[in-house]
Amino acid sequence: MTTKKNEIGKAFIEIDNAKYELPLYKPNVGPNVVDISKLYAQANVFTYDPGFTSTANCSSTITYIDGENGILLYRGYKIEDLVENADFLEVSYLLLNGELPNIKEKNDFVNAITYHSMLHEQMTRFYAGFRRDAHPMAITCGVIGALSAFYHDSTDINDPQQRMIASRRLIAKMPTIAAMAYKYSLGQPFVYPKNDLGYASNFMHMCFSFPTEDYKINKILADALDKVFILHADHEQNASTSTVRLAGSSGANPFACIAAGVASLWGPAHGGANEAALNMLEEIGTADNITKYIKKAKDSNDPFRLMGFGHRVYKSYDPRAKIMQKTCHEVLDALSLRDDPLLKVAMELEKIALEDPYFIEKKLYPNVDFYSGIILRALGFPKDMFTVLFALARTVGWISQWKEMIEDSEQRIGRPRQLYMGNVDKKFINLEDR
Ligand code: CMC
Repeated sequence: MTTKKNEIGKAFIEIDNAKYELPLYKPNVGPNVVDISKLYAQANVFTYDPGFTSTANCSSTITYIDGENGILLYRGYKIEDLVENADFLEVSYLLLNGELPNIKEKNDFVNAITYHSMLHEQMTRFYAGFRRDAHPMAITCGVIGALSAFYHDSTDINDPQQRMIASRRLIAKMPTIAAMAYKYSLGQPFVYPKNDLGYASNFMHMCFSFPTEDYKINKILADALDKVFILHADHEQNASTSTVRLAGSSGANPFACIAAGVASLWGPAHGGANEAALNMLEEIGTADNITKYIKKAKDSNDPFRLMGFGHRVYKSYDPRAKIMQKTCHEVLDALSLRDDPLLKVAMELEKIALEDPYFIEKKLYPNVDFYSGIILRALGFPKDMFTVLFALARTVGWISQWKEMIEDSEQRIGRPRQLYMGNVDKKFINLEDR
């Protein structure tokens, strides 16, 4: 299926006195898009856009960000409405299928996810191959990639039924994989999923229960984690999502593509920022050190950046950060941790940065990762699990984007071009003469 494009005119480009016409599309919302796909064939030139700052790599109907006004939509619904009124699996259904489910559709979906949550027992032995002090992101990435070795019956990307089963398996098994990575890193026995628990509660149960002792689910905390999952579920064509699409464009199976997405997410400029932000807050330690760190962040000769600050698309407050801040207060209240010293540092740091001309001028605001670390830490997760939780929640976004790409009749293998600046006329010199 191809989404019909709304051509509203032409853009023109002049190269060496020759003029070329390029189709100009109007999206449902957002800036118009110039179609340069035929430019090379017509004019024998490439376009140059490191970091894809001006390039749309696909057409999509899943997520939209209005960075100037701090708006995030999933399938047309405002993130604030979804967090307030829906749970993570309802939002997952929406992202995957395009519409919110009715009661029957939701029950069927929740059932399917619940009954796919166990891992093939042989997979549990796969974990033993990792060093016991391995980072849980490394384990998660490896185990997700290994799913393709265990679930052959859902790797045919041309079969819609198999695509659907693979999508559900990934959403269902991700919490189990992540919880097992956590348990393994602690040297504790794996805890199996429980079918009478909700998605977030089940994850907490698998992380924090022991065979000897159940973890008591606190509804306020489980609901907060569910919100954190919704806030991370999808975010347009970011680095990891583009990685999933690029990997998938070659026809690779969905499990391999999601493993690629996890790898891309790990970097501190992307999903690794939640771990880095908490490390930073701990390093700052007390409010009187903030000025020193703000100074470092502004110094172009210092690589230090305020982690959890700034975004490629948001040039105003990230709407996810606003909800995250509110959720953070709810969680700390529920745990009687109102006076958490890191929250104090975070709030003071945010206040000082938002009044500083450097941050104002560059339009740098807190992003989703600024407060999420404080929430996750209060829920009991160690720092090295933060990015794993991001990956868990983003899996539905990745798989929805992958599915959309496979079903798009315009889909071709992703193959960027380059501006080659290397040598061209080197004469070979024999080894003994070099
Ligand atoms: N602290 C200090 N200066 C910053 C920061 C920051 N956090 N972010 C950007 N800047 C400066 C940067 O130095 C540059 O200044 P100049 O124009 O003088 O060279 C200017 O702002 C523009 O930055 P950029 O790196 O060109 O912007 P980008 O769009 O390529 O990068 C970013 C976006 C998110 C990678 C960057 O803001 C950053 O590194 N932030 C910290 C890491 C972080 O919080 N990442 C999580 C992103 S949200 C979650 C997710 O989607 O993964």
